[in-house]
Amino acid sequence: MTTHDDDILVLGATGKTGRHLVGALRAAGRRVRAASRSAETRFDWSDQDTWAAALDGASAVYLVAPEDPAPVDAFVKQATEAGVRRFVALSGRGVERLSAEAFQGMAAAERAVRDSGVEWSVIRPNNFNQNFDDDAAWRPPLLAGRLALPIGATPEPFVDTRDIADVAAALLTADGHQGQVHELSGPRALTFADAVRTIAEAAGRDIEFVELDPAEYRAELLAEGVPEEVVRDLDEMYANMRAGHVAEPVDGVRRVLGREPVDFAAYATEAAAAGAWA
Ligand SMILES: NC(=O)c1ccc[n+]([C@@H]2O[C@H](COP(=O)([O-])OP(=O)(O)OC[C@H]3O[C@@H](n4cnc5c(N)ncnc54)[C@H](OP(=O)(O)O)[C@@H]3O)[C@@H](O)[C@H]2O)c1
Repeated sequence: MTTHDDDILVLGATGKTGRHLVGALRAAGRRVRAASRSAETRFDWSDQDTWAAALDGASAVYLVAPEDPAPVDAFVKQATEAGVRRFVALSGRGVERLSAEAFQGMAAAERAVRDSGVEWSVIRPNNFNQNFDDDAAWRPPLLAGRLALPIGATPEPFVDTRDIADVAAALLTADGHQGQVHELSGPRALTFADAVRTIAEAAGRDIEFVELDPAEYRAELLAEGVPEEVVRDLDEMYANMRAGHVAEPVDGVRRVLGREPVDFAAYATEAAAAGAWA
């Protein structure tokens, strides 16, 4: 158990989950160190000189992994040597079915915290609601009126980053759920066509969803200058989704928090009202 006097280091603190986690922990009166390259505590995975100050006095860490797995083991070792007794690592649902080449940072983070010798939890969420807004990948195409992905009619139980953050806060501060992998999804699965229709209605604008062939999608990404290894990761991720491996809702949010996760329609209404697609 972490106490109110413990410092909690949140990596990726400016990101989609980290930002809400910092807010949730502070609202609960916890001492938080919000860290990233641009956050109040400077932390850069590629600059080991930034690690010691971020870790000094921290007893728990929310670990958002880098894309490059290389620094992960050294960081977890340095963290435990500095006194960290609990990790919560952010991973992704279905990661266990991907090849060893895909999403190596997340896979390295899972392995490192399991082998850390201290308390650990892994959270594996579905795709986030907030990928549709929040300066994320799917927002610019939505604003342009056309989201095109190689996903077909397979539904996705999108999960809200506020639910992920609340689960992470519970795992960082309370006892009883450590030493486990927590799969997290929203309450229901919907197709991307339905998700885009829900957003279009909430935003009051015309937006179409276009199904792409995987080869067309790879070609579009490469033409946009997306690095080849990122294209490979996305290609595998969508193949995993098309196969239906992560299409069923799971009860991870309810098991940890004792409440239902946020529904996609409520998210879309709220994000539209906040001007996400205006
Ligand atoms: N998006 C999804 O639907 C989804 C679903 C399942 C799993 N995941 C996993 O969740 C993780 C986060 O992905 P995301 O797309 O949602 O990103 P994000 O958390 O919204 O943004 C990335 C965060 O990492 C920080 N960061 C980037 N490079 C860094 C570096 N070199 N050193 C230190 N901090 C750095 C960024 O802040 P600064 O720029 O300030 O450094 C930012 O706070 C990834 O591992 C992803 O695979 C995502």
